[in-house]
Amino acid sequence: MNVESSMIFARLSPARPNRPLTCLAFSFWAITTAPGAAAQTDTAALQTLMQRNNCTACHQIDKRKYGPNFKEVAVRYASDAKAVATLAAKIKAGGNGVWGEDPMPPQPHVTDADARTMAELIMALKP
Ligand code: HEC
Repeated sequence: MNVESSMIFARLSPARPNRPLTCLAFSFWAITTAPGAAAQTDTAALQTLMQRNNCTACHQIDKRKYGPNFKEVAVRYASDAKAVATLAAKIKAGGNGVWGEDPMPPQPHVTDADARTMAELIMALKP
């Protein structure tokens, strides 16, 4: 490293002399604690059910569309022991007033089993 580039390096990371090491440690942490195969399967299962039941017209798992995204739903009810039952009922009946002005129309085509499974998979998204 010549004098000029080491000065630039010093200016870029004055307070973190061991930054490359920290990055390496972080990458290792990110790889070893990445969502396991089970979590990925759950997201895929939820996505499949959402497509089959036409929820994707208004919802996405991690981005807002017309309705709330399912990660924020999981966060909102994280400490609610009855969340799965409440959400399964709302998935079929629809409703309004929780996330804003837009109503969710009833979804009579959704089977009880699908509603329950989707509610469980949505709640499994909580961090
Ligand atoms: C026409 C658009 C639309 C469709 C289709 C739709 N939703 Fe919704 N959904 C909404 C809106 C809007 C809200 C917010 C309602 C509110 O504020 O109470 C919502 C809310 C929700 C919530 C949060 C409920 C709560 O009380 O916090 C869940 C869970 C949900 N939807 C799941 C589903 C599932 C699963 C499907 C597919 C069967 C589906 N939605 C289909 C628009 C839709």
